[in-house]
Amino acid sequence: MGNNLLKGKRGVISGALDENSIAWKVAERCVEEGAVITLTNAPVALRFGELNKLAEQTGAEIIPADATNMDELDRLFAKSVEILGGPLDFVLHSIGMSVNVRKKKDYTDLNYEWMQKTFDVSAISFHKMMQSLWKQNAMNDWGSIVALSYIAAQRTFPDYSEMAESKALLESFARSFGYHFGTRNKVRVNTVSQSPTRTTAGSGVKGFDEFFTYADKMSPLGNASSEACADYCVLLFSDLTRMVTMQNLYHDGGFSSMGMSPAILG
Ligand SMILES: NC(=O)c1ccc[n+]([C@@H]2O[C@H](COP(=O)([O-])OP(=O)(O)OC[C@H]3O[C@@H](n4cnc5c(N)ncnc54)[C@H](O)[C@@H]3O)[C@@H](O)[C@H]2O)c1
Repeated sequence: MGNNLLKGKRGVISGALDENSIAWKVAERCVEEGAVITLTNAPVALRFGELNKLAEQTGAEIIPADATNMDELDRLFAKSVEILGGPLDFVLHSIGMSVNVRKKKDYTDLNYEWMQKTFDVSAISFHKMMQSLWKQNAMNDWGSIVALSYIAAQRTFPDYSEMAESKALLESFARSFGYHFGTRNKVRVNTVSQSPTRTTAGSGVKGFDEFFTYADKMSPLGNASSEACADYCVLLFSDLTRMVTMQNLYHDGGFSSMGMSPAILG
């Protein structure tokens, strides 16, 4: 049962691949809270994924777009404004992929062409989305833009490899574009730094299961689930957080403030 926190709001949700995707839960919660949305993912992901099911369930149209392609992003936001009947109130960036991790390249032996691709998909796509929204003036005043991040942007988690730098870049884009969007039309831009979560992207990281358990024990509240992350995104899209911008917000059950936990020493 929703509380109409997003009643009358229009949004675009990227990155829902299957039921495990964080974006999948965010889409469900946004609609439950009264929003109307469009869904988007890379054309290739639409072939493998189950997005049609989510689209049916949420009454949303799917607009394919490779988030590294400016023309496709322009079309995505123009069509979304048209379909939803006006400028957007919120946008979720929930996109990440590392070519070097996928191909099991060690951090001390990275392929730089693959690294460029990783940055483009995982971080520069966020700037591209915002630049497209900016140029089309597609965001409503007091709108909210959120991207999902991970604490490897601040601390070293060796197996996360070049995704650490991707997330550092992503968070920096949120601060820099947050300035421009804030001063022009009071739009806020934040990143949510989420706990390890069992999804396609998450499980691609080496040793994910061991790490998931470690983080769960280290966090006083345990790992934050994707459902809880969806709740937090709803809050950030709602009018209850109008003055929060240019922040990286930890949604991690307390993990980021811990030094040592007796639960680990066991
Ligand atoms: N799972 C975790 O442990 C975890 C933790 C913190 C942050 N995150 C972040 O959450 C976000 C969502 O990931 P997830 O864990 O839900 O996994 P996921 O695999 O379900 O989602 C990643 C999405 O990125 C999409 N994508 C990849 N390349 C794309 C492109 N070129 N254009 C458009 N879309 C593209 C994929 O199709 C997929 O839907 C990512 O940014 C991820 O880094 C995940």
